[in-house]
Amino acid sequence: MIQADPDKYGVVGDPIAHSKSPLIHRLFAEQTGQNISYQAIRIDSEEISFANAIKQLKLEGFKGLNITLPYKVDAFEQADQLTERAQLAQAVNTYLFNENGQILGDNTDGAGLVLDIEQQGQRPFNDQRVLIIGAGGAVQGILQPLLAKQPGLVHIANRTAKRAELLGQRFSTPIPITGSGWQDIPQEPFDIIINGTSASLEGKLPPISEKVIGRHSLVYDMMYAAEPTVFLNWAKQHQPECQILDGLGMLVGQAAESFYLWRGIKPDIEPVIQQVRKLIS
Ligand SMILES: NC(=O)c1ccc[n+]([C@@H]2O[C@H](COP(=O)([O-])OP(=O)(O)OC[C@H]3O[C@@H](n4cnc5c(N)ncnc54)[C@H](OP(=O)(O)O)[C@@H]3O)[C@@H](O)[C@H]2O)c1
Repeated sequence: MIQADPDKYGVVGDPIAHSKSPLIHRLFAEQTGQNISYQAIRIDSEEISFANAIKQLKLEGFKGLNITLPYKVDAFEQADQLTERAQLAQAVNTYLFNENGQILGDNTDGAGLVLDIEQQGQRPFNDQRVLIIGAGGAVQGILQPLLAKQPGLVHIANRTAKRAELLGQRFSTPIPITGSGWQDIPQEPFDIIINGTSASLEGKLPPISEKVIGRHSLVYDMMYAAEPTVFLNWAKQHQPECQILDGLGMLVGQAAESFYLWRGIKPDIEPVIQQVRKLIS
């Protein structure tokens, strides 16, 4: 039987060589029997603008793209249509090129995090008290999908307090959502604590009190690495019984949501997380 050419997808960013997305999407395609190709594409802003690079990839027949740093805001600005979650995040990590030539921009980062906490963490958000640390692009992307899961309350704490306060005000929801700097975080255990700062990338800890971690807390760091991050080690040191998870599952989860948008099939993330974990350790 003659095999049709695979549908073309990819991830754009700069740098991009480190990206795990080609591996993750290859594993999804094998798992679900989808005939696709997926490649990492560097957009060097000194050679071509983001908008022109996207036009070119569309002409080359790509059906969709993932967009990573530093282009998530450019991708938001260049989309013809946006999903509600992308609109609220004001950042886009997934493009679907429609048959009419229009670009649909979506943001699957938050859905990936929620899926990971529910599946790997075995922790439904319903009625949970959630502390989010950080108010940058990644946190902006997770709020709408997280609020849709009806947590009991959400407190956002950030180094720049104003950013956390403004972010909290952006959402109209009956769920109590507050924002503050470090010193005004309620000093009592939260059920779910999510570190969305880039402090872990520099091996640093946000200066928050260990009183926010309880025996039953789930402590999540959006960053992932071969070893537990400095934030997860800190949590375990102060509360050995707490549950910890890093952001590898979020990475695979957001990819699964993009795959679903493109192909209409939801891959099983757990075996893929295990395979990628083996490779990075
Ligand atoms: N697993 C995944 O799939 C995934 C996806 C997206 C992002 N991430 C991770 O999420 C993290 C944040 O990414 P982002 O795109 O949101 O970055 P970003 O937009 O640059 O935001 C950075 C955030 O970290 C805070 N921050 C930076 N350095 C800090 C420090 N030394 N101490 C305390 N706070 C600090 C910033 O506070 P100010 O507002 O005060 O500057 C801001 O809230 C990164 O670790 C990234 O790798 C993971």
